[in-house]
Amino acid sequence: MADPLRAERVTLRDGRAVLIRPVSVDDAEATLKNINLIGAEHVYIMIERVDNLDEERRWLSSFDGIRSVLLLALAGREVVGSADCQGGTYPKDRHVGGVGIAIRDGWREVGLGRVLMERILEWMRAQGFEKAELAVFATNARARRLYESLGFVEEGVRRSHVRIRGAYVDEVLMGLWLGREVRSGVP
Ligand SMILES: CC(C)(COP(=O)(O)OP(=O)(O)OC[C@H]1O[C@@H](n2cnc3c(N)ncnc32)[C@H](O)[C@@H]1OP(=O)(O)O)[C@@H](O)C(=O)NCCC(=O)NCCS
Repeated sequence: MADPLRAERVTLRDGRAVLIRPVSVDDAEATLKNINLIGAEHVYIMIERVDNLDEERRWLSSFDGIRSVLLLALAGREVVGSADCQGGTYPKDRHVGGVGIAIRDGWREVGLGRVLMERILEWMRAQGFEKAELAVFATNARARRLYESLGFVEEGVRRSHVRIRGAYVDEVLMGLWLGREVRSGVP
């Protein structure tokens, strides 16, 4: 079985290539730039802006590759996309990992999102997670389609949970069982 944390050069649909690899603390300036560009668009992710480089370094150093991981897509020295997973920290939700993804404008719709999501799910399976979960703004049709095509299903809706440019938008919760789905029961 291939190492899900391998560094790998991937050619996208438009012929451009990116390097996929796990983050290191030295990437902080580049990850900050990527997330701030996407945050400034307002409509896709919860974060609007991160200003503090030390805070970013602390956050990056929290990914241990065992219970959490952050994968980057790099074009030269520029981070053009990232995907992360944070494993549940309580005994009751340790079987679940929360997933997030953010690709910079100009690098979207050429296959990178699918590559990063598939690699995160590959890592989750290798680490023994049973379930992936995420939250997506209801208006983000592109992201919802990607998740559905990977097998995620809608599990709930937090109604008018986010406010974007003055408009209230639902947040959709989605889940994907990585092996056999376990039915809920009474403990
Ligand atoms: C959402 C996002 C991760 C998708 O990644 P991407 O690299 O743009 O998408 P891909 O080219 O890998 O396409 C993956 C799938 O997304 C869906 N998709 C892509 N473009 C789409 C569009 N314009 N409309 C609807 N669905 C679309 C398709 O299902 C596609 O699969 P296919 O190419 O096999 O048909 C990426 O666009 C992104 O990061 N956007 C900004 C931040 C964001 O929305 N993050 C997610 C927050 S929950």
